Amino acid sequence: MTPSIRTIDVDLADRSYAICVGEKNLAELGPAMRRSGLGNKAAIVTDGNIAGLYLKPVEASLRQAGFETSVIFLPAGEEHKNLDAVAAIYDRLVAARFERGSTLVALGGGVVGDVTGFAAASYLRGISYVQVPTTLLAQVDSSVGGKTGVNHKEGKNLIGAFHQPRLVWIDVAVLRSLPKREVVAGLAEVIKYGVIADAALFRRLEEKLDDILKLDSAMLTEVVAASCAIKADVVAKDERESDLRAVLNFGHTVGHALEALTGYETFLHGEAVAIGMVQAAAISVAEGACDRESFERIRRLVVRAGLPAEIPADVSPAELVKHMEVDKKSAGGKIKFILCKGIGATRFHALAPGEIVARLEESR
Ligand code: GLY
Repeated sequence: MTPSIRTIDVDLADRSYAICVGEKNLAELGPAMRRSGLGNKAAIVTDGNIAGLYLKPVEASLRQAGFETSVIFLPAGEEHKNLDAVAAIYDRLVAARFERGSTLVALGGGVVGDVTGFAAASYLRGISYVQVPTTLLAQVDSSVGGKTGVNHKEGKNLIGAFHQPRLVWIDVAVLRSLPKREVVAGLAEVIKYGVIADAALFRRLEEKLDDILKLDSAMLTEVVAASCAIKADVVAKDERESDLRAVLNFGHTVGHALEALTGYETFLHGEAVAIGMVQAAAISVAEGACDRESFERIRRLVVRAGLPAEIPADVSPAELVKHMEVDKKSAGGKIKFILCKGIGATRFHALAPGEIVARLEESR
C-alpha cells in the first residue's frame, strides 16, 4: 500500500510554507513548486553523492513543469560547509543572471541545505529556495525552520541567517540509500520530538521501532510527518529562538559538547544527541522534573534503536562542561539546561557548571 502524502503547514504569515512528506514523490516536485508560485528559473544545488541517485528525477520533474534548470555541484562533506561553497554558488548565479524571482533547490543532506539556504538568504538580499532533504536528520530537523549558515574555522554555524524555504519536499524512500548508522542517528532527533512534545509519538516509536528500523514506508512517513509537525509548531511560535525554540535543543547541550570534545570524529550528530538526551533525562530526574520510569523508557528506546546512551569512560564530565561554558547557552555563569518533565513536556532550568559535572558523575 502506498502511504498517502502528509502535508504540514509552517504558519508564518506571509512566509508560511508547506512540508510535504511522502514516498517516491520526487517526480511530483516540479508541479508542487509551480503551485507554490515559484518563478521559472531554478538551480538545483547538490553534491556528487546525491546527484548520482536523485538528480535525474528531480531535474526531469522541474523541466516537465516548465522550469529552466541548471545544476550547481558542491563538494560533499561537513568540511566544505564554509563561505567558499557559498561563493561558488554566487559565482554561478551571477554568471547565469539569476534574479530576485529565481529559485534554488537544495537536494541533499544538512550541509547542502544549510549552504544553499544561506546563499538564498544573501544573494540579491534574498531569493526563494526549496528544501529536498535526503537524510533523516535533514528531513526532521535542518530542512525545516529556516536556520541557514556555514561553519567558521573557530566554530560550527557561526555565520548564518534565518531564511525560510518556500517548500520542503520529503521523500522517505530516499532513506533506503543511506548507511544504516546514519538512519539510526537521525532517529535520535525523532525520539527527541517524542520526549519534548508528544507522548503519543514516543509510544508509537516504542511499539513500532522494528518497522521503522526496517524502513517501512508507512511508518517512516508517519514519524517524519509527526516530527516535522512538532518542529513546525515550535518554529511558528518562536521563529528566531528568543525562547521556546530552544526546546529543540533538548539533549544537545551535552551532545554538542561531546561532539566538540571528540573532534567531531567519534560520534555522528544524532549519536551524540542520543547520549545527551539520556544524560539530560537523568539530570531531569535528579532535579525532580522527571519520574524514574520515564527516564528508563527514554534510555531503553535509545538503546533499542542502536544508539549510544552513556558518556564514554575516557571523557571526563568536567571537560565536557568546559565545552558547554564556551557554548552560547551560557548566561550569567549558569548554563540554560532543558529538562524533560516526564515524556512529552520540558522546562528550562539554569544550572551552575559544577552542578552539571556532579550530576553527570552521579549518573555514571
Ligand atoms: N535544530 C534546531 C533548530 O532548528 O532550532
